Amino acid sequence: MPRLPLLFCALLYASPCHAECLPGCECLEASQTVRCVYAGLREVPGDIPKFTKILFITGNRIHRVSYNSFHGVENVTKLVLSNNGIKELGSHAFSLLLTLCTLNLSQNQLALIHPEAFSVPGSPLQELSLSGSLYNSTSVTDLITALRWGALRNLLHLDLSGNHLVLLPPATFSPLPSLRQLILANNSLVAIYTNTFSGLEQLQELDLRYNMFRTLSSEGLREIEILGRATLLLGQNPYSCSCDVQEFARWLNSSRVQVGDVERLLCASPPSLQGRVVTAISIHTSSCYGKMNPEEVVTTLQTSYVFLGLVLGLVGMIFLFVLYLNRHGIRKWITEMHAACRDVLEGYHYRYEIDSDPRISGTCGV
Ligand SMILES: *[C@@H]1O[C@H](CO)[C@@H](O)[C@H](O)[C@H]1NC(C)=O
Ligand SMILES: *[C@@H]1O[C@H](CO)[C@@H](O)[C@H](O)[C@H]1NC(C)=O
Ligand SMILES: *[C@@H]1O[C@H](CO)[C@@H](O)[C@H](O)[C@H]1NC(C)=O
Ligand SMILES: *[C@@H]1O[C@H](CO)[C@@H](O)[C@H](O)[C@H]1NC(C)=O
Ligand SMILES: *[C@@H]1O[C@H](CO)[C@@H](O)[C@H](O)[C@H]1NC(C)=O
Repeated sequence: MPRLPLLFCALLYASPCHAECLPGCECLEASQTVRCVYAGLREVPGDIPKFTKILFITGNRIHRVSYNSFHGVENVTKLVLSNNGIKELGSHAFSLLLTLCTLNLSQNQLALIHPEAFSVPGSPLQELSLSGSLYNSTSVTDLITALRWGALRNLLHLDLSGNHLVLLPPATFSPLPSLRQLILANNSLVAIYTNTFSGLEQLQELDLRYNMFRTLSSEGLREIEILGRATLLLGQNPYSCSCDVQEFARWLNSSRVQVGDVERLLCASPPSLQGRVVTAISIHTSSCYGKMNPEEVVTTLQTSYVFLGLVLGLVGMIFLFVLYLNRHGIRKWITEMHAACRDVLEGYHYRYEIDSDPRISGTCGV
C-alpha cells in the first residue's frame, strides 16, 4: 500500500512528518532557511532540504569542506559556516553553489586552502567573511593564492579581521576589482608599502583599526592617497608621538583622504603625551621645536663617531700601505741608521780612548 504513508503525512500535515528536519537542526521552509547550530555535526549533512536558500551550520566540528559537501542544495545564496573548526577547504569547495552571494567562514582554523577553493563559475560571491579564520601565516599565502585563482571579480565586502596578519604582499587585493569594503582590523600590521592596495579603485571603506601602526611613513601615506574616495578607519593603534609624528599629523590635518575616526587616533608614547590626540600634537608639544629629541641626538652622535672611526681607520691603512710599498727603502734606511749609529758608537768609543790619550783627537764616523 504505497499510498498509506502519504495519507499519514497528509493527516498530520504541518507537524512531525513535514517538520522532520535533520537531527539537531531547524528547518524553516517559509523563509527557506535551515539552521544547524551546535548540532554536533562532523560534516556538512547530505540531506539538507532542497528549498534551502539560507544555510547556517555553526558551532559544529567539521574538519573539511569539499566539492561534494553541498550536493543537492544548489540554490543556497547565503552560507554561514562560522566556528566549526574547519581546517581544510578543498578544490572547488563551493563550485556547486552557482548563486552563492554571501559566504561566512569566520572563526575557523583554515590551515589548508586549495588554490581553487573559491572558484565558482560566474563568480557570484559578493560578501566573504574570513574573520579569525586563518590558522597561521602559511594559510595567508594560501588564501592570497586562492583569492587570485578564484577571480572574485564581483566581491564587494571582504573581512580579514583577527587573522594575525603582519605583512600584506604587494597587490594582494588586485584580483578583487569591485571591492567596496575591506576590513583588516585586529591584525598586527605595522606598515603600508607601495602597491599594498593597488587595484582597489572602487574602495569606499578601509578599516585598519586595532593594528600595530606606530605611525604611517610617507610611502604608506602616498599609497593611501591613491585610494582617493575611501573612508579610512585608523583608530586604536599604538601611535608614537615623538618628533617624527609631525609629517603624519600634518597629513591628517590636510589630506583630502577622509579619516573617519581622526579624533580616536591617540598617542601611546612617549609617556608624557599618552592619550593625546595625534592631530593636536603641535611642533611645540612634541619638543621638536628648535632642538632634536634625545633619541635623535644619540643617533647623530653615534653616526659621527662611526664616521670618525672610519676616517681614522682609512688613514691608518694608507699609512701602513705606504710603509709596505717602501719596505726595501726602509730596510736600507734602518741598516744605514744602524751602521751610522754603530759608527757613532765606535767613534765615541774610539774618541773615548783617544780622549783618554791626550795625543790623539778626531771626529764622529764621517
Ligand atoms: C533551484 O532553483 C531552480 C530555479 O528556481 C530550480 O529549477 C531547481 O530545481 C532548484 N534546485 C534545487 C536543488 O532545488
Ligand atoms: C559572520 O558570522 C559571524 C558569526 O556568526 C558574525 O558575527 C558576522 O557578523 C558574520 N559576518 C558576515 C559578513 O555575515
Ligand atoms: C602553519 O601550520 C602548518 C600546518 O600545521 C605547518 O605545516 C606550517 O609550518 C605552519 N607555518 C608556520 C609559519 O608556523
Ligand atoms: C581579535 O582577534 C582575535 C584573534 O582572532 C580574537 O580572539 C579577538 O576576539 C579579536 N578582538 C576583537 C576586538 O575583535
Ligand atoms: C592640526 O590642526 C589642529 C587644529 O586644527 C592644530 O591645533 C594642530 O596644530 C594641527 N597640527 C599640525 C601638525 O599641523
